This record gives sequence, structure tokens and C-alpha cells, in this order.
Amino acid sequence: MPNLLSRGLFNLFFGSRRKPFAALPGPQPGVLGTAGDFLGPQPWDVCARYGREYGGVTLIWMGPSPGVVLNDPALIAEVLESPRRMEFEKGNISEQVRPTVTDDTVFIAKLSEDWAEKRKLEPTGQPWSPEWLAAQVSPMQAAIAESVEALLAEPSLDYTHALRRLTFDAFSVAAVGEKLPSSVFDDFLLLARGADARIQAKLPLRFVSLPKGFAEAKTGFYGHFADRVRAARKSPKPHAVDLLSWSLREMPGMDDQVLAHLLGGLFYGGVFSSSTTLVGAVHQLQKYPDAEARLAAEAATLADGALTSEKLSGAHWIEAVAYESLRLLPAVRVFTRTPSSDAQLAGVMLPAGSMIMISNQHLHRDPAHWTDPETFHPARWLNGGVARDPLGSGHFFPFGRGPRACVGGDFAMVFLKTALATMGARVKAHVDSTEPFEEGFFFGVVLPKGVTGKLITRQPQAAHAAPAALTA
Ligand code: HEM
Repeated sequence: MPNLLSRGLFNLFFGSRRKPFAALPGPQPGVLGTAGDFLGPQPWDVCARYGREYGGVTLIWMGPSPGVVLNDPALIAEVLESPRRMEFEKGNISEQVRPTVTDDTVFIAKLSEDWAEKRKLEPTGQPWSPEWLAAQVSPMQAAIAESVEALLAEPSLDYTHALRRLTFDAFSVAAVGEKLPSSVFDDFLLLARGADARIQAKLPLRFVSLPKGFAEAKTGFYGHFADRVRAARKSPKPHAVDLLSWSLREMPGMDDQVLAHLLGGLFYGGVFSSSTTLVGAVHQLQKYPDAEARLAAEAATLADGALTSEKLSGAHWIEAVAYESLRLLPAVRVFTRTPSSDAQLAGVMLPAGSMIMISNQHLHRDPAHWTDPETFHPARWLNGGVARDPLGSGHFFPFGRGPRACVGGDFAMVFLKTALATMGARVKAHVDSTEPFEEGFFFGVVLPKGVTGKLITRQPQAAHAAPAALTA
């Protein structure tokens, strides 16, 4: 809490601004407002603490400007789902990531301008996308299996980096039908570092420079997809199932450049978040060996022949592990909104431009809703658990809520389940030490730190052990 002098100075200069917000609870502001709370701890931890201490809505002060942190499902629905959502634009993440992504992606589009039009073009949100997605299970399995064999040769792994590349490679296969060259991965990372420097900057964005080689990397990364779109247009492959081929067949009128940008955007939308979720799963499965053994047993039952969407749909434990990882360690934990003009919310009038922070961490672990919420307990998702807390509901929204929720959520789920099934059948992902488990932040996504270990070949008999457990 700010000291007496700091609180006194805030009241002296801005005390009159506090009156209209007197009904809302929150920490005492000092000269920085309450922004000092966010200097040090991770923002999601601060938002969760506010949820525990102040309840569903917490008044914050970003310097002299008021804002709110929401931990109340009904208020979150009002901002993200109700017709009123049009009053609330995405927060400053759009400006921060703008140099890295392109104007064609829905991610940075304004609700009040062309968001709806852009959303309609996203390849993962088309009426034919479920069919495309079902066709990705087998090619992604093959790509992941190949990556796993290569990782088995490594004496030691940093899972955050290893699974990021594995994820990038699987996404490449789903996007263009094959793994992309390392130079494309390097360009991808360099562009992401540019955005990350802006997201984490303590200075105004005009003072933050982009990494050396940024412009060339951007030309290289998106140019790679543009070349592929042109080549695929010239020599179409009628039976290819990748997103590029599928998009050209189903949306022949789409501009080449736009399609190239959307294919590139898929990697920014999902590689960091999906690989972070996998690292979380690996970490928790090490902590909870029974859950791991059950995953291995179920994965073994799927390992005969190619993995298919049908087989995956019966893999309830694998799905439960994915859901539980997304509940306990969601990769995207804070999203922001800001009213375009003065807006009434939670009984107060928030000025245009105010900060609205929404975090899923507190609600995903709310003891009033979840039994034993801090424990990784995939079984909570069996026997109707998925229907009780569907994706995008009040206490479970790892992909956000409402019409602007993640456009790649279905793809992410299929990828996660495919990766868990493929890895689970072939290897045990040993983690050297599960404590302390530290999390940082990269490209707006949680970044697990220091999760090191080694893949260990699964003994076939262990993989087939205890199938009876699957029915429990
Ligand atoms: C585990 C993986 C993922 C997680 C946890 C995740 C999480 C999220 C969340 C929470 C949002 C909403 C943010 C907000 O409301 O401000 C979002 C939006 C978005 N996600 Fe994902 N995501 C994942 C995977 C993906 C994938 C694979 C793609 C690529 C297809 C993707 C593309 C997008 C896009 C384009 C948006 C913006 C949608 C819009 O503004 O209309 N995400 N994601």
C-alpha cells in the first residue's frame, strides 16, 4: 500500500475524482494511483488477489485515471457477450502487436469499424472449418511423432522452447501441409520479440525500438506464405487437406495477400498459447502420476494405426487433461477492454479510455465454484463436467467469452488432444523439478520458466497397463 504522504498527495490533487467511484471497493491510491501494485507481481496474480480481497469488481487508478478489474461472471458477460460489448474496444494490446501482425487479422480490428467483416474471413471460423479440422488429426499426429523422436535424442530439454517448436511444426502442417524451414520459425520469433518489447515496455511506444532485422523478418515471414499461396493457386492440389488448399477451394475469391496474412496470423494467434498449455500439462502430469498413468493407458489404446478425429472424440481422459490444464494454468490470463465513450458499468460512469481488466485466474480457481480448485484433477471434467462448465462460461473461459472469443479455440483443442495422445503413447515427459513453478510473460501469453527435463521412451507394457482405470 502507498505510504501516507503518497496517499495524501493523490487525494490533494485528484481527491475530487474519487467521489463518483466511492461505492466501489479497491486498494488505496497513491501518487501512481494503484498502478504500483502491478510493478513486480504478474498482472494475473494481482487481478486474482483483487478478486479474493474485493470481490467481483475492484476500482483501480492508473495514475489519475480510474479503471476496474472484473472478477464477476455477470459483469464480464456484460462487457464481452451482451449487446453492450460493442461499447468496449480491445485494450492497448492492438497497438502493441500492430507492427508484428498485419491489418488483415481480426485480432487488432476495431469492433466499431471492421471487426465483423474481418472475423468472417478467418479460415478457422468458416462453415467448412470443422471438416478441415477433422482432417488435421492424422497429419498433425505424424508431425508431432516426428518431433518427439527428434526430442528423444536430446539429453535435456527446456519444455517451453522444445514444445514451442513442436507446436509451430504441427501448425505448419495444418496450415500449409508440411513443416516450414527453420528460417521461417526464426523470422516468426524475431517478429514476436518486437511485439513483446512493446507489450512489456514501461515507456510510451514511440520510444520502444524494434529488434534489428525486424523489417526483413516481416518481409520474409509473410512473403513465405505469399509465395506458397501463389504456387498453390498456380498448381492446385485437389485432395490436399491443409488450410491453404482448403481455403483456395472454398474461398476462391480471397485476395492472395490477405490469405497469406491470415495463414501467418494463425501462428501468432496460437503457437505461444497452445505450447504454453502443453508445458502446463507436462508439469502437472509430473506432479500427479496417477493422471499421467491414465493418460498413457488411454493414449496406448489409440496408438494402433493413424490417429483420427473419431478416435480422439472417445478419448475422454485426454480431453479432461487438456481442459484441466486450461483451467488451472490458462495461457491467456488477462484481457483488457476500454470504453469507446463514457460508459456506465458496475454502477459507475467509466470515462472513455478507462482500463477494464478481465482475468480468468480467480474464477478458474474460485473455491465457491470448484472443489479443491488448486489441485490438478482431470476427473472433474468426466461424467458431465464438460457440460457443467462449458468453454466460455462464467467460471471457465480460457479462450475468452462471447463473439470476440478465440477464433482458434477448436483448432487449439484438437491440437492439444492430438499432442497429448501422440506424446502419451510414445514417451513419458519427465520434469526435473516441479517446484518452484515460475511463470513469466511473452507476447501477451504466460511463459512457464525453467520447466526442464527429458523425454523417456514409454515401455510398451506400461502403456498398456491398467486399461480398467479408463472406465472409472
Ligand atoms: C490454448 C490456445 C489458445 C488460447 C488459450 C487462446 C486464448 C485466446 C483468448 C483468451 C482470446 C480472447 C482475447 C480477448 O477477448 O481479448 C483469443 C482471441 C483470439 N485468438 Fe486465441 N487462443 C489460443 C489459440 C489460438 C489459435 C490456435 C489461434 C489461431 C487460429 C488463435 C487466434 C485468435 C484470434 C485471431 C483471436 C482474436 C479474435 C477476435 O478478436 O475476434 N488462438 N484467444
